[in-house]
Amino acid sequence: MAKTQRPCLIVGNWKMYKTIEEATAFIDSILPMLDKSSCQVMLAVPYTCIKPLADKVKGTPIIIGAQNMNDAMEGAFTGEVAAVMLKEAGANFVLIGHSERRTIFQESNAFINRKVQRAVACELKPILCIGETYDEREQNQTEQLLKTQLDECLAGVAKDAANTVVLAYEPIWAIGTGLAATPELVGSALATCRKILGDIWGEKEAMKVPILYGGSVNPKNAETYLSLSENNGLLIGSASLAPDSFAKIIALRQNAAVATKS
Ligand code: PGA
Repeated sequence: MAKTQRPCLIVGNWKMYKTIEEATAFIDSILPMLDKSSCQVMLAVPYTCIKPLADKVKGTPIIIGAQNMNDAMEGAFTGEVAAVMLKEAGANFVLIGHSERRTIFQESNAFINRKVQRAVACELKPILCIGETYDEREQNQTEQLLKTQLDECLAGVAKDAANTVVLAYEPIWAIGTGLAATPELVGSALATCRKILGDIWGEKEAMKVPILYGGSVNPKNAETYLSLSENNGLLIGSASLAPDSFAKIIALRQNAAVATKS
């Protein structure tokens, strides 16, 4: 029963894949499979695809977002993109602090914090990504790491933002590796995140924040994560690139929701 009431966000992260032509073909093939979607379907696409896809998906269950943004309003930052530009192009949300940004592009919690603040101020929904490395987990540092990331990335963000911010728990060792985390581990990490959010914003506000799991999610393992009581959806990389596998995951949620209705 609770499943039908919990928000469910299924977010695809296309990373640096798909030209506009390929992205358009993806939308053409997935739309007929999404009729009775009971969840919010979101696609974080390359910058070049935002405008054409946002125009194309108007009136459908899909919303389009970006994978990154700069923290400044505007300025001499060659190669960067501002929140207002993403919004104007049709983006509804933005991934912030994805582990590939943190590790490959050395993004710090302080920089990510400024981006979250800017996104909130510009009314662009931030999906804040956090998660531990393999070594941190082995050394039992996961809880402390999640606390540090949340404390630092949400510093100075007013609790009203709980109505806007989405959190994605993505253990770094599970991203793109095929080593999906066990449901027990995910359930406990999501509960930890919820508790830390409660310490930051208060329990009531913390309950409003959708918390997603990401890391090697595929049509075979998605259902176990969707059925966790703390879970509000999924952030999916490689399995979001093909319409069939992405639609299969969305349908799992549909079936789960229908099954709990009676
Ligand atoms: P993956 O990527 O599903 O391919 O592991 C997840 C992500 O990068 O968010």
